[in-house]
Amino acid sequence: MTSAEIRQSFLDFFASKQHEVVSSAPLLPSSPNLLFTNAGMNQFVPYFLGEREAPFARAADTQKCIRAGGKHNDLDDVGYDTYHQTFFEMLGNWSFGDYFKKEAIEWAWELLTEVWKFPKERLYASVYMPGEGDPADFDQEAYVHWKEIFVAAGLDPTVHIVTGGKKDNFWMMGDTGPCGPCSEVHIDLTPDGDTAGKLVNADSPYCIEIWNLVFIQFNANEDGRFVNLAAQHVDTGMGFERVAGILATTKNFTDFSAAPSNYNADLFEGIFAKISELSGRSYGATLPGDVTNPTDVEMNDIIYRVLGDHIRTLCCSIADGILPGNEGRNYVLRRILRRAVMYGRRLDLKPGFFTELVDPLLASLGPVFPELDAQRDVVRKVIRSEERSFDRTLDRGMQLFESIAAKQDQKIPGDDAFALYDTYGFPLDLTQILAEERGLTVDTDGFDAAMAVQRKRAQDAQKKSVIKVAEGAQEDATPFVGFDRSTWSGFETDIVGVEEIEGVRYLVTSETPFYAEMGGQVGDVGSCTADGKTVTISDTQKDGNGRVLHQLEDGAALPASGQVVLNLDIPRRLDIQRHHTATHVMHWALRKVLGTHVRQAGSFVGPDRLRFDFNHFEAMKEEELKEVERLCNEQLVRNDLVQWEEMPFDDKPEDVIAFFGEKYGNVVRVVDVGGWSKELCGGAHVEAAGEIGQLRIVAESSISAGVRRLEAVCAGTASDLTLKEHGLLKQIAGSLSVQPAEVPERLESLLAKTRMLEKELKEMKSQAARGSVDALLGLVQEVDGVKVLAAKVEDVDANGLREAMDATRVKLDPAVIVLAAAADGKVFFNASVAKELVSKGAHAGK
Ligand code: SER
Repeated sequence: MTSAEIRQSFLDFFASKQHEVVSSAPLLPSSPNLLFTNAGMNQFVPYFLGEREAPFARAADTQKCIRAGGKHNDLDDVGYDTYHQTFFEMLGNWSFGDYFKKEAIEWAWELLTEVWKFPKERLYASVYMPGEGDPADFDQEAYVHWKEIFVAAGLDPTVHIVTGGKKDNFWMMGDTGPCGPCSEVHIDLTPDGDTAGKLVNADSPYCIEIWNLVFIQFNANEDGRFVNLAAQHVDTGMGFERVAGILATTKNFTDFSAAPSNYNADLFEGIFAKISELSGRSYGATLPGDVTNPTDVEMNDIIYRVLGDHIRTLCCSIADGILPGNEGRNYVLRRILRRAVMYGRRLDLKPGFFTELVDPLLASLGPVFPELDAQRDVVRKVIRSEERSFDRTLDRGMQLFESIAAKQDQKIPGDDAFALYDTYGFPLDLTQILAEERGLTVDTDGFDAAMAVQRKRAQDAQKKSVIKVAEGAQEDATPFVGFDRSTWSGFETDIVGVEEIEGVRYLVTSETPFYAEMGGQVGDVGSCTADGKTVTISDTQKDGNGRVLHQLEDGAALPASGQVVLNLDIPRRLDIQRHHTATHVMHWALRKVLGTHVRQAGSFVGPDRLRFDFNHFEAMKEEELKEVERLCNEQLVRNDLVQWEEMPFDDKPEDVIAFFGEKYGNVVRVVDVGGWSKELCGGAHVEAAGEIGQLRIVAESSISAGVRRLEAVCAGTASDLTLKEHGLLKQIAGSLSVQPAEVPERLESLLAKTRMLEKELKEMKSQAARGSVDALLGLVQEVDGVKVLAAKVEDVDANGLREAMDATRVKLDPAVIVLAAAADGKVFFNASVAKELVSKGAHAGK
């Protein structure tokens, strides 16, 4: 069977058992605690926890997974063995409170042995048996079902069923969340298949786990307790590449002589062929005898596997909107690409080789994952630009590394390793690899120390600009009531206190309609009145305890308690809201025009402008900018309603944009513009999109590698800008005596004329210069057999005088020449004496 047939046959099998076949969730997880989607069950967590009702009782799918960071991290094994990958597909079947252990086990057996013809005698099942301190009880139920199956197959259950504790037979997605005991199916791939279960869970490529059947019954709480769930569920995960690799290696179970490997599956064929084409080598399928010291032949094959795996991870992540970057999962991705490039260089692959692997990958997985196919151009461009920038970094960094290494005979100092990291993005492990190749080590303690110093510097720098005190209990947090327009003027509340922080006085109240600066949105301004005295509030900030600090105008005194009336600067707040909603609209348009990899990387929202930073790999083209602006304005006039709602994080609609690294609480606020833009956001917004008026993009720039910035204005600022520009245009048209529409043509013809005149002028000047040199030559005299020229040159400045000197000297040499000129109220002299005349007593200076 081909891998495509295996995948399809899995889905068909479960469809025939009334499972709904669903699509893979994106690799960008919806849970904020995960770096990447790392298991098929991620997208179903709310169903398991009973937070949301499953739309079907049974489902089956192939899920894209990445395990390269966090609890499940296989990165370091990739390449060095044949069955771990950072990217893999997990085939799964699911029961949401429907069938349980019996069916899950029986169907697994049926698919493996009857449909795919796995040899029964080579299969082993593991069952949960708690060890010391492990949760829950022995999984008697699973044991009984497996026993029946093996007995019916004429196999000894005491041999074919093995037990395992929490480490191997209790599945958890992370430290918390839905979990339960599991039964894994392992296959003996030794030539004779006679190891009688001894290799199960022994890290042998000859006996690997192919399918994990998890029986979800508990939720692991943060306090370490395992609480029974209201319903019982099934979550199974099959390693697709493993199964495809086994069928390929054993030629459908007819030949067990070759070493098993995922990389024998046709999934890698195209990529490996490309590597061979580029490197002129071939893949030998060897495994390292000693992973710490592989031979050259073994290293060759390790590199094939590393590249084969990593290109899949990169392409699939980028297609799902995760781009290489400097933080969190984006940084993991950048490191994976760099790991690939570094390994590739050891095969002497030329810069740009990694990008060449994109097409074979698209050919193999594009037909399976439509999003990959749809984003193919973006995927290619991102990888190309990331690879190029790393190539440049590598070249510059390598020069520095060589100069550092040349000075050392044992250890690369930590400071130098840090300089490589900080300036050229050399990860420490890369420096270590390079050092090792030269018989050197790296002072990692020194590196850590240098890193710590830099971190502290960054923290200190941050402290200065933020008035926040340490994060503390939020019990004192000031409730914010200012989404509701009725609170904006004459809002009565109590004074909690007036405090002075670093010489500035702040008012704290028991509630407030004033928005404290947050999420890029500036703080509100306005005024407050207490005891008959009105004081301006010039800014609003929040401290680490969530208390809202209203900044009081210089020196203003207010009573420390009693009532206060708050008044917002309403026009300003309305303008801020316009610019805030406009960022959402622009985000939406950017994703439409550039692709769904676009994600917000920061923003500023003020009353008269907005700034929106986002991940994108190249400068935006003029047409793209125009299209974004056009789309936004087209959308604004629809005047769609803007609504917001608070809800538990897990209940947010599927299409809400949420980002890793953002700290979302359990309750989030979803801001919805007309149903087409949904974002998690705590900011203040207009009530209908039409309030924004028009949106004008005023600048596009780069703020760091892979991050672009758009600046825009809307509402009054945008129309002021439009009017101003229109006024300018009219003024220009007036000066040119044409209609505004004719300005470009008129300007073009004027510029052409200017160019022509400049050319003519230049020509005339050089003619004149030639003429004046000839005139000068006519003035040469002979004094004691020496040519002497002393003359005034007309119509030149100091530069022209120098040119005249150069021109005459060439013609007269050897000679004594003194030239003079007058320009701009100054007199210039230039004297020259040929070398051989100096000895005869002539002196230019005199
Ligand atoms: N959740 C289990 C795993 O990831 C089975 O799908 O292995």
